[in-house]
Amino acid sequence: MSQARIAISADVARAQISKHLYGHFAEHLGRCIYGGFWVGEDSDLPHVDGIRADVVEALRNLEVPNLRWPGGCFADEYHWRDGIGPREQRPTMVNSHWGDVVEDNSFGTHEFMRLCELLGAAPYVNGNLGSGTVREMGEWLEYLTRSDDSPMARLRRENGRDEPWPVPFWGLGNEAWGCGGNMRPQAYADEARRYATFCKNHGDNKVARIAAGGSDDDLSWTRALMEAVACVDCQASPESPIFQGVSFHYYTYASQGINTESATEFSTSDYLRTMVRATGIESAIRAHVAVMDSYDPEGKVDLVCDEWGTWWLPEPGTNPGFLHQQNTLRDALVAGVHFDAFHAHARRLRMANIAQTVNVLQAMLLTGDDGSMVLTPTYHVFEMNKGHQDGTSVDASILEAPSLDVDGHALRALSASASTKDGQLLISLSHLDPDQEMEVTLDVRGAGVTGATGRVLAASSIAAHNTPQTPDAVAPRDLDVTVDQRILRVTMPPHSFATVSVALDHA
Ligand code: AHR
Repeated sequence: MSQARIAISADVARAQISKHLYGHFAEHLGRCIYGGFWVGEDSDLPHVDGIRADVVEALRNLEVPNLRWPGGCFADEYHWRDGIGPREQRPTMVNSHWGDVVEDNSFGTHEFMRLCELLGAAPYVNGNLGSGTVREMGEWLEYLTRSDDSPMARLRRENGRDEPWPVPFWGLGNEAWGCGGNMRPQAYADEARRYATFCKNHGDNKVARIAAGGSDDDLSWTRALMEAVACVDCQASPESPIFQGVSFHYYTYASQGINTESATEFSTSDYLRTMVRATGIESAIRAHVAVMDSYDPEGKVDLVCDEWGTWWLPEPGTNPGFLHQQNTLRDALVAGVHFDAFHAHARRLRMANIAQTVNVLQAMLLTGDDGSMVLTPTYHVFEMNKGHQDGTSVDASILEAPSLDVDGHALRALSASASTKDGQLLISLSHLDPDQEMEVTLDVRGAGVTGATGRVLAASSIAAHNTPQTPDAVAPRDLDVTVDQRILRVTMPPHSFATVSVALDHA
């Protein structure tokens, strides 16, 4: 058994952890919307206004703070007017990015807003900058958020919705370097400024305009966008930025790149390389933050990671354009280490969206047309970690932990983070060693401890996953925590994720 020691300073606050770091993403891609969320009003499956009831119930348990829609790449070929009005009259289109299938637009603006209401999630609508127009984008926001007798508000009423919806987040296109228009950073930055100008705040609705940035640690986009924010030749300024957010995307794979490696058939080396890639999110965030700090030291513009997660080969037998993949304990650990990095950078990183919520990439839920639904190991990490939402990130310093050698790279075998909320301390631990147990000593400082409980997500194989036949192959169970005044101890199985909830006594 290996040993690790962490000092947690319950009184050394870093930043508030925005609940929006636990955001989600639902694209018109494969079976995420159709067959995932949306089954239609005529379905025999239990549903609310055409939306699968069991999916809503499972996601409500995660306290989903926001939902990004309709893409992704799909966003830049989506024309919102095709998705309003009587469903049987809506025009169809080709979803050219994802399976080249015909989209019938039966799930559109009103259906998405209903889904957000059912989930209790804030809408993050991604506008079409790549193939749309400035007018189209501006009018969509007017349609959604305006309450008076404006043309778009009237059209919304004609379609059955009197009151406007609150829309706090707005995406200005997506991956402009690729599917969003193959632009160069400077050209996109200027376009994004133009589009942002016409994305108005209507009435009380205050929308955060999020410019689409680069991938991984490509800083050229962040730099160009922050220069556009800081532009001295135009009215916008850091005091009144033209975008309120700059995004980037970060996908995880083992070593060959996205969409090349099996989700379930992998070696220990593949697993360890995956963890090296996943833990790399921390340095990627740090690099983006450094650029943003240099232009905007006061932190008026937020960093947003609006696509993250694993990207494996699609499940054999499924449409390759649908990106339907299984989800193992390995994926759960990828999620665990991402959240540690998100918490550590909570000052600037204010929103993140896992790709994607149902049936696509690193999903929470896998559904079948027969009515089956499986909670994935990643779902359980989101559930076990939900207490961090809107908590205060506190210092969790790993004083001692073994390293694993991965192709000459030293991978620390433990990742951790902690937050306080309502007199409770929540500690998350990702134990990455595939072979041996680890005894973790948690030294809580800055407050007394009156009790502690633990939960662990583990399985004998790192490739373990849930299916309709074995839905609880990977599910949380209780973890013993020994408490000796302010010193807590847990023993973590190989490749496992755990949370420890500690009742604090500040007296
Ligand atoms: O999440 C799947 C796709 O990945 C998105 O549509 C795109 O933005 C990214 O390349």
